[in-house]
Amino acid sequence: EICKGINGLEKVILRDIRGSSVEIYLYGAQVTSWKNEHREELLFVSSKAIFKPPKPIRGGIPICFPQFSNHGSLEAHGFARNRFWSIDPSPPPFPTNSSNKTFVDLILKPTEEDMKIWPHSFEFRVRVTLGPAGDLMLTSRIRNTNTDGKPFSFTFAYHTYFAVSDISEVRVEGLETLDYLDNLQNKQRFTEQGDAITFESEVDKIYLSTPTKIAILDHEKKRTFVIRKDGLPDAVVWNPWDKKAKAMADFGDDEYKHMLCVEAAAVEKPITLKPGEEWRGRQELSAVPSSYCSGQ
Ligand code: BG6
Repeated sequence: EICKGINGLEKVILRDIRGSSVEIYLYGAQVTSWKNEHREELLFVSSKAIFKPPKPIRGGIPICFPQFSNHGSLEAHGFARNRFWSIDPSPPPFPTNSSNKTFVDLILKPTEEDMKIWPHSFEFRVRVTLGPAGDLMLTSRIRNTNTDGKPFSFTFAYHTYFAVSDISEVRVEGLETLDYLDNLQNKQRFTEQGDAITFESEVDKIYLSTPTKIAILDHEKKRTFVIRKDGLPDAVVWNPWDKKAKAMADFGDDEYKHMLCVEAAAVEKPITLKPGEEWRGRQELSAVPSSYCSGQ
């Protein structure tokens, strides 16, 4: 189903008969809503989000490409999140989910203007799939379509904003003892301690070589988000906390309490593609009642 969203921007809605749904704006190919079968929203979108190009949308799942954050000379997080993507009316079957019809493929190809800021030809296809259990899968396929024989390199992230009840009650499991680059300390490298990660101040870290499964435990909501990823070795953890929240025009002063970004990413080692080569990066999200998850 395609319809008009905020400010007339087009969005696609995927629905499952059990009640879960996903909304994706063509602007940025950005998921802005993911609801479970009880129609509870699982992603955070700021009440102050500006749905007006060229401003990226604050919340949901922005796609950072071809550059993560300020790790390079392009605009922060690259340009994919503020371009209009198009729907592929006849998407190819993927071996992994060819029987599941609840998906949409969005495509981004660079314009001549884009090629002035990043001189490479590519085709970026993202498939957004709503699974039968309400899981949300994003599969990105990026192909180098350069005809000049040149390879290109990029960094990437699914900048997912999870909705949480109270950030001080949240734990992240799966990143203990790993090395990380701290964006708040000149990208210096540190090693995380052995306990699950909790939050009491601003955090902006890139965990390196992370496991394929990471969990966010929301004690108050009795909900656990499980992130499974493939092709994306790193994981960014971001919460702006109070001071940075106040400094962002498109973010409410207290909203930092109700969100957490955990981002499946490829940052430390850029991906390089030769002409004709394709890269695949996949993220699968599920939200399960905590009791269900205990002992796993
Ligand atoms: C995170 C970065 O992924 O995104 C942070 O690690 C950054 O450094 C944050 O502040 C938000 O970025 P933006 O460009 O959407 O405000």
